[in-house]
Amino acid sequence: MKLFVDTANVDEIRWANDLGVICGVTTNPSLIAKSGRIFEEVVREITTIVDGPISAEVVSLEAEKMVEEALPLAAIHPNIVIKLPLCAEGLKATKRLAAKGIHTNVTLVFSAAQALLAARAGATYVSPFLGRVDDISWEGMTLVRDIAEIFKVHGIPTEIIAASIRSPLHVTEAAKAGAHIATVPYKVILQMIEHPLTKIGVERFLKDWESVPKA
Ligand code: E4P
Repeated sequence: MKLFVDTANVDEIRWANDLGVICGVTTNPSLIAKSGRIFEEVVREITTIVDGPISAEVVSLEAEKMVEEALPLAAIHPNIVIKLPLCAEGLKATKRLAAKGIHTNVTLVFSAAQALLAARAGATYVSPFLGRVDDISWEGMTLVRDIAEIFKVHGIPTEIIAASIRSPLHVTEAAKAGAHIATVPYKVILQMIEHPLTKIGVERFLKDWESVPKA
């Protein structure tokens, strides 16, 4: 399973990219708003940092307008992936963009049936939001597992991005459930790095090293 970083903060993206562990970026309107910057400028800057798929989301609710919004975004860089919400108009726009060879990420997926529709419309990626499913006391990971099974049984090439990730456990469980990618917030990447036994181990090695005779 590959890892993307889920943020529009370029400092966080640069940090995650320097670690060498991520190969793509997802943004959404809320993350862009949090960055406090102009949408197209942030997206352009991200393309200079990460050489991989970068999701930029449209905000129109009609297929024609979604495509109109998508075209200039896609023109920013070949790595741009147009993110669209799962709805009838989003599916229509996905089909139209796929016909133009533009990659898409259908987002706000909360059922396997929705994921199947997105795949059949030609989505490059689908994003099941497992954290938000957990939030309403359902089982987010079951959603990822069901989509992975359906795509496997039917040889569907659409990749699954496990989204709305809230913990390191979400990441490892999504990997076991068959997600192709997990898009992980900065904070969760930090949590994935940390382990108390690693910290104690490093401290002990350094302490013991002090007693090694030096040349
Ligand atoms: C995915 O592409 C979304 O940007 C993101 O994972 C949403 O996560 P949230 O539920 O934490 O807002």
